[in-house]
Amino acid sequence: MEHSDIYGGFRPTLEQIKDTFARRIEDYTAAEYEKTGIRIYEHLIARVKSEDSMTEKCERKGLPTTPHSAMKELRDSIGIRIICSFIDDIYANIEQIRAFPDCRVAEEKDYIKHAKPNGYRSYHMILEYTSPFADVDGNTPGTFYIEIQLRTIAMDSWAALEHKLKYKKHIPYQELIVAELKRCADELASCDLSMTTIRDLIAHCD
Ligand code: GTP
Ligand code: MG
Repeated sequence: MEHSDIYGGFRPTLEQIKDTFARRIEDYTAAEYEKTGIRIYEHLIARVKSEDSMTEKCERKGLPTTPHSAMKELRDSIGIRIICSFIDDIYANIEQIRAFPDCRVAEEKDYIKHAKPNGYRSYHMILEYTSPFADVDGNTPGTFYIEIQLRTIAMDSWAALEHKLKYKKHIPYQELIVAELKRCADELASCDLSMTTIRDLIAHCD
C-alpha cells in the first residue's frame, strides 16, 4: 500500500467529518455564550492525521498499513483538541459532546482526575459517529471515529513542551528531567485551581 493511500480515498470524507464536528463545537459554544456570556472553550485544533503519521502508527502497532486499520482499528484518524480556560469548562464541553445525537462515546479517559504518572493531564474521548457516508467496510450508514482531547491552556502548554522533549532520548540527567517535568505538571495543575478561585472571586464582585 502506498503511503499516499493509507485512507484509501476517504481523506475528503474524513476532512468533511472533521469540519462538521469543529462546527458543532463552535455552535454549542456560541449558544452557551449567548446564554451565559462565557465562552466554554478558548480555541480548538482539528486535524486529519497525516498519511505518514498514520502509516507509522499502524506499523508501530503491528497492524497492516490498510485503510481498514487506519479508520477502524485505530480511532484517531480524526482528532480534535479543545483548549479551555478553566477545568470546569472542560466538563461543560463534555456534557455537550455527550448529547450529540448520532454519536456514541466509545471510550473515555479522565487524565485530569487521574493524571498519568509523568504528570500528563487531559480528558480523552473517542466518539463513534454514525454518518450518512459509506465507510471503509462498505456500510451505509458508515461508522467513523473521532478522538477528542480536552485540556486547559496550562495542560496544553505542558503537553506541547513535554512532547518536544520526549524526542531527545539520549540525554543525561534523564531521571531528573522526568521528575522536574512531573513537578511542573503538578504546579500547573495547582495554578489551574488558583485561576478558578480567582475567576470566582471576580464573579462574586459583580
Ligand atoms: P494511542 O492511541 O495508541 O496513542 O494510545 P492510547 O489510546 O493508549 O493513548 P491515550 O489515549 O492515553 O493518548 C493518546 C494521545 O494523547 C497521544 O497521541 C497524545 O496526543 C496524547 N498523550 C497521551 N499521553 C501523553 C503524554 O504523556 N504526553 C503528551 N505530550 N501527550 C500525551
Ligand atoms: Mg488512543
